[in-house]
Amino acid sequence: MYKIVKSECLADKIYLMDVEAPRIARACQPGEFVIVKMDEAGERIPLTICDYDREKGLITIVFQIVGASTERMAGLKAGDSFADFVGPLGQPSEFVKDDLEEVKKRRYLFVAGGVGSAPVYPQVKWLKERGIDVDVVEGAKTKDMLILEEEMRSVAGNLYITTDDGSYVRKGMVTDVVKDLVENQGKKYDVCVAIGPMIMMKFVCRLTKELGIPTIVSMNPIMVDGTGMCGACRVSVGGEVKFACVDGPEFDGHLVDFDQAMKRQQMYKTEEGRAILRLRE
Ligand code: NAD
Ligand code: FES
Repeated sequence: MYKIVKSECLADKIYLMDVEAPRIARACQPGEFVIVKMDEAGERIPLTICDYDREKGLITIVFQIVGASTERMAGLKAGDSFADFVGPLGQPSEFVKDDLEEVKKRRYLFVAGGVGSAPVYPQVKWLKERGIDVDVVEGAKTKDMLILEEEMRSVAGNLYITTDDGSYVRKGMVTDVVKDLVENQGKKYDVCVAIGPMIMMKFVCRLTKELGIPTIVSMNPIMVDGTGMCGACRVSVGGEVKFACVDGPEFDGHLVDFDQAMKRQQMYKTEEGRAILRLRE
């Protein structure tokens, strides 16, 4: 059993939990994910790791209520346990695998949208710990929906916040800020990492393609069981078929077929779609 030591509601329907999982905490890297199961019969829920404490043996996860399983999960309190907590799974972020001296030469721009701020945080923290300051654009629908602001501020070189309704800092989408930074403020970037809702990643990629900034995205939202078995996370990357849970979750965003991926995501959001997947297992 994997004990929950902290459970906190960050915003409407968004929860953070610290879970005792020492083996995963010792081994995990930014970009990787875990699969959580509440009980033996429960649904497998793949979640990107938001933070880890190697000494205390803790993993931090952040999730949004999107259906019956995550609703039940939100009801768990400190002291409760998960039956299963498997990981680390997937591939670490590219910069973790690259030569650190090369990484230090690059100017990074991170774009975090909504709940996507959770997987962005450990990446920015990893770079900060190695003396690399990066720019972060964080977007949320409203001030109340903005999560991990202080955590992000503590690790980002510069943090640019925007809200869709203008209730905090500035009004607009993350793409408006990226455009402003590059076109009006003369900022130059070698790599952009965009993590958030699919539609956000699609439009960030459209913009960064125009601006000539190579862009990495996380296809975590299309995962269903996260085991490489169900086939739900198939994604076309530069015309090649990839599985987000095995080959990713991060891919070259300029090569991802977002329209196809969003169609698949819609299909598996329904009970019927998920039942089809269960039959295939
Ligand atoms: P949201 O709808 O509040 O959007 C967050 C921000 O994305 C907005 O504030 C806006 O700045 C930007 N955005 C949205 N639509 C845009 C568009 N058309 N053009 C440009 N920018 C746009 O986000 P949310 O409700 O927190 O999102 C939940 C989604 O995030 C879920 O679908 C979940 O699957 C996904 N998610 C993705 C990852 C990942 O790894 N990619 C991780 C966690 C959650
Ligand atoms: Fe099922 Fe990847 S999520 S195969």
